[in-house]
Amino acid sequence: MTIISNKVHYVGTNDRKKHLFENNWPLPYGVSYNTYLIADEHPALVDTLEYGSDNDYLKRIDNILEGRPLEYLIINHLEPDHSSMIGEILRAYPQVTVVGNCTTFKLLENYYSVPAEQKLEVMDGSTLNLGHHVLTFAWVPWVHWPETMVTYDTTDKILFSCDAFGGFGSLDGGIFDDQIDFDRNYLTEMRRYYSNIVGKWSDKVQLAFKKLAGLEIKIICPSHGPIWRENPAKVLDLYNKWSTHQAEKGVVIIYASMYGNTEKMADAIGRALAEEGIKNIHTFDVSTTHVSYLINEIWEYSGLILGTCAYNGQMHPMMHHLVHEISVANPQNKTIALFGSSSWNAAGVRTLKKSLTDIKQPFLENALEVSGVTTDEKLAGVKEFAKAFAEALK
Ligand code: FEO
Repeated sequence: MTIISNKVHYVGTNDRKKHLFENNWPLPYGVSYNTYLIADEHPALVDTLEYGSDNDYLKRIDNILEGRPLEYLIINHLEPDHSSMIGEILRAYPQVTVVGNCTTFKLLENYYSVPAEQKLEVMDGSTLNLGHHVLTFAWVPWVHWPETMVTYDTTDKILFSCDAFGGFGSLDGGIFDDQIDFDRNYLTEMRRYYSNIVGKWSDKVQLAFKKLAGLEIKIICPSHGPIWRENPAKVLDLYNKWSTHQAEKGVVIIYASMYGNTEKMADAIGRALAEEGIKNIHTFDVSTTHVSYLINEIWEYSGLILGTCAYNGQMHPMMHHLVHEISVANPQNKTIALFGSSSWNAAGVRTLKKSLTDIKQPFLENALEVSGVTTDEKLAGVKEFAKAFAEALK
């Protein structure tokens, strides 16, 4: 049993079986579904977890409640990684009152049948008195779905923030920020989670920050990743940095290469950038690195250089996929340059330019291009290319 604060229990679980979050994002270090039981005079459960991820979930709740019925089920967010045990909760506690906002209940109808008398629709700023703990609710739409809200415990100053301030990675023993080496074991995975899952909604994250600005927050209980009780300011700062598109100085070079010529260009560009004094240079083959890791790197650094060979009169399909994901995640304030090779026409770089223009990602006009085999002679312009990029990066 893990107690977070007076009568507030962690009842979440780890999922190390799932290979792909949302059947899309690799989970090499797993993920946690955090859910919280406030065993107050009127017991309330804050969110649930993914169906099938933990057979002992109901037993754990029942043990803490010692036979008392659960009175409230608070739904901060309806994505099934937090909501797909709602049916089981309704079966175990048929009298439970389900707490959500108007959008929650509109969407909930698509999943579960809850009698009208068991729905408690809360407004932005409504309160719910559990006995000792008094909760308020703040709507934070699109962090991560339109119905999403956060729950704030005014008694112990706990923010149950759902997807906000969460990250990938199972909780391996330590569940609190003071029990883990966050920078070593969670930081990168949290940024990968942010950039791929939440990043598209960065402006909404900023609106949420404004809404929560007046609250005294002692503990942050997200629905994924560590609970922040020692230094909640750290995760607030990280999310603020990422949602305002602040990046570290450095360059991510990502290339698509069929027979090695575009790859040689990528390496030559990296060398030339290093000669220009740039120290953080990370080069990736788009075909061998899952796109979520590339988006994560793009979010971290201010510079981005994309290269593609020509392929069937287009850019390489894997580069096409990356550009699509960039259009979805929509990173901002990047210095972008392009390069590529071709055999009979320059369709790769040409279509790459068109796609970036279409998604409103500005780039330096002068691309580095090679036809056929990449030789030192054909790369004569790389120094100038790197110099112009380094200058733009400043
Ligand atoms: Fe963790 Fe948007 O669900």
